[in-house]
Amino acid sequence: MTDSVPTPSSNPNPNATANSASQRLKDLGQHSCSRRLFLLGTGTTIAGALLAACGNEAPTAEVSEADVPVGSAVIVGNFIVAQPKEGRFVAYSAACPHQRSKITKVQGDTVMCTAHGSVFRIDDGSVVSGPSRDPLYPASLSESDGTLNVSG
Ligand code: FES
Repeated sequence: MTDSVPTPSSNPNPNATANSASQRLKDLGQHSCSRRLFLLGTGTTIAGALLAACGNEAPTAEVSEADVPVGSAVIVGNFIVAQPKEGRFVAYSAACPHQRSKITKVQGDTVMCTAHGSVFRIDDGSVVSGPSRDPLYPASLSESDGTLNVSG
């Protein structure tokens, strides 16, 4: 077994040995401290990332009732807000039930996912044509002073 720290018997100057050993321990202490600081920094970074992830709230959007055409819909953020009949508003997620592409096209009283062509009715979210077999995902909708607040 080899040891790079000189032993008292192999070094003619005992003070030099003590100083070398002391320096080595000090160096080790500094490495240990650096490792601690590294781990502390890493832990802090991970905790920050977790807090950021936990801080994400459900997506929301808002639109004025006046901006939603009667008999049609608008796409606001990640939502579809529709007014199938005057004064009746409904909202859906704009995530296509087929493979989650964002629905981006409004065609009168339907919306279409341009990824693969699924078409959905705005009044109830049902499928007009696939490939999607599932209807639109409903979103929560509330109104305040003429503004529609959507969340999902
Ligand atoms: S992801 Fe919308 S039709 Fe396929």
